[in-house]
Amino acid sequence: MNFETLKPQVETIISDTKKTTDERLLSICQLLEHHIDYYNWVGFYFADIYKKELHLGPYVGEPTDHTVIPFGKGICGQVALSNQNFVVPDVAAQDNYIACSITVKAEIVVPIFVNGKNIGQIDIDSNTADPFTEADERFLEFVCTQVAQLL
Ligand code: SME
Repeated sequence: MNFETLKPQVETIISDTKKTTDERLLSICQLLEHHIDYYNWVGFYFADIYKKELHLGPYVGEPTDHTVIPFGKGICGQVALSNQNFVVPDVAAQDNYIACSITVKAEIVVPIFVNGKNIGQIDIDSNTADPFTEADERFLEFVCTQVAQLL
């Protein structure tokens, strides 16, 4: 399914007031993981700005030990500080990377902004090498803008 088809489905999930925020976030993870074949782990991390840590929120995919990530550590922790998308075509080429599973070959992390503040991120792992394009970045920025409306 292409991104333009998924966008209205993301909007429908976000506006479903019968679900809690976490249920809606989980539904978004499920939607993306199910419809985009190279999205193999999809999850949200949220910032605790006082502790300078990211905390794992709803996700789909293999359980991870990395439920708390200090700012600066790994791809996720770097995005907490840089406020910028981080596209990693080959995780083996990264020295500041936290491995969650040996099957993962690539990763993309896009920050979520609420009132201009970086409050968390969507994190996607892929078992396919170098799968992400600018279209993924634009789509995930759309998803993050939608998610920001809930937070
Ligand atoms: N690989 C991430 C850690 C989180 S997992 O992908 C679920 C990183 O380097 O920050």
